[in-house]
Amino acid sequence: MAESWVNSAERIGVDLHLELSGPGGRRAALIRALREAVRSGRLAPGTRLPPYRSLAADLGVARNTVADAYAELVAEGWLTARQGSGTRVAMGVPSTPFGQWGRPEPLRHVERLPRAAARGPRHDLRQGTPDASAFPRAAWSAAYRRALQAAPAEALGPGDPAGRRELREALTEYLARARGVRTEPGRIVICSGFAHALRLLFGQGREGVLRGPLAVEAYGLDFHRGLLAAAGVRTVPLPLDEHGAQVSGLRRERAVLLTPAHQFPTGGPLHPERRAAVIDWARARGAVVLEDDYDGEFRYDRRPVGALQGLDPERVIHIGSVSKSLSPALRLGWMVLPERYVGPVLAAKGEREAWASVPDQLALADFVVSGSYDRHVRRMRQRYRRRRDRLVAALAAHAPHVEVTGIAAGLHAVLRLPPGTERSAVKAAAWQGVALDGLASFRHPETAMPASDGLVVGYATPPEHAYGAALEALCGVLPPG
Ligand SMILES: Cc1ncc(COP(=O)(O)O)c(C=O)c1O
Repeated sequence: MAESWVNSAERIGVDLHLELSGPGGRRAALIRALREAVRSGRLAPGTRLPPYRSLAADLGVARNTVADAYAELVAEGWLTARQGSGTRVAMGVPSTPFGQWGRPEPLRHVERLPRAAARGPRHDLRQGTPDASAFPRAAWSAAYRRALQAAPAEALGPGDPAGRRELREALTEYLARARGVRTEPGRIVICSGFAHALRLLFGQGREGVLRGPLAVEAYGLDFHRGLLAAAGVRTVPLPLDEHGAQVSGLRRERAVLLTPAHQFPTGGPLHPERRAAVIDWARARGAVVLEDDYDGEFRYDRRPVGALQGLDPERVIHIGSVSKSLSPALRLGWMVLPERYVGPVLAAKGEREAWASVPDQLALADFVVSGSYDRHVRRMRQRYRRRRDRLVAALAAHAPHVEVTGIAAGLHAVLRLPPGTERSAVKAAAWQGVALDGLASFRHPETAMPASDGLVVGYATPPEHAYGAALEALCGVLPPG
């Protein structure tokens, strides 16, 4: 039976596209194509070529055509042929790697970076990432395998833009139990995370489901503000105080985006009176509240703060993802919608699922239903609490003048600094290989709220073994008291 090119390529470890064209018949064309492949570096010195029979079958030429072409190139010195080791590209042939496509452009922006930054920070304390080394590989693989084995054939066809029913059912139960969300599977739309939800809601290059102006917290993720600006949505900053966003400042906006369980990045929950007030405002104005529940599962010291959505499912769009609980690489999230938005959001997604992989959705459904998700979150909650405690203890011992806030929940804390010292502290940290952000990088450019200096420390980011050294380095770069 003739071997296919793929089979032979697997055995020799290379896959090569050869185009037989030009004058002089197939033998001459094959010689030219192979010579060009060696000269351009696509076939590296030492590479074993496929046996005559397989290459002949792949190219649809006679076996002798391949044998003749190899013989010619051996005679020219491009190839070598030895009994037992087949035909290989000769060592030391003058190849010009990239010759065919031209040299790639030098990466000037990377070259301009300080050397430490180009290598990556020695101590990564940037917020935004869970401990990637703690991803539950075995449990996730098992869930994936079970889910794929159980999946009906139709699950591997084009996906329903609402998301798999299995996942929406699992989330309905989980979100009710763990976050106090009141919903049913028909109100959930699966997406690829919070950023994708924002894109769907506000459009980008097409009409969105919602319109601006959108009120946002005066401190928030600049990436999300940028995404909204790109969609042409004006954002109006709401000042913050120790009770969270000052929602009494809401006026004529059509929607407000909040992080009620754990203000990002300052770290407090929205005060219960303000939770009630923002719902009243939305009811009175026919507006909607977008609830970013990015790390709602990670609470340490106080009683869990349930989802705002539970107060009025018709006035709140609740958005969550696995980016903090599992991994931001999975790109899986959910929107829990008031009924009137389900149709428009599905229309915005289009006819077929184009973002959230269906096998991943099924795996997550299994992961939740089997209890693996709860177990993982509980384990990570304990780990992050220990890290939070170590951070607080290290600061008390080595930098007692630095106040640490926002520590009751989440994966980051804010170290408050004296006015005017934040920029130099961030720079000093970078020089010592400690990557973190200052509060200024989260500040809405139009807010009139007084600025406060601080460092946002993502204590979940480093792998476990590197955390102690990262803490030590952090304490070493803080401004003296
Ligand atoms: C404030 C905030 N919201 C939402 C998210 C989640 O974003 P996504 O689901 O797009 O990864 C993050 C990061 O994980 C975040 O920091």
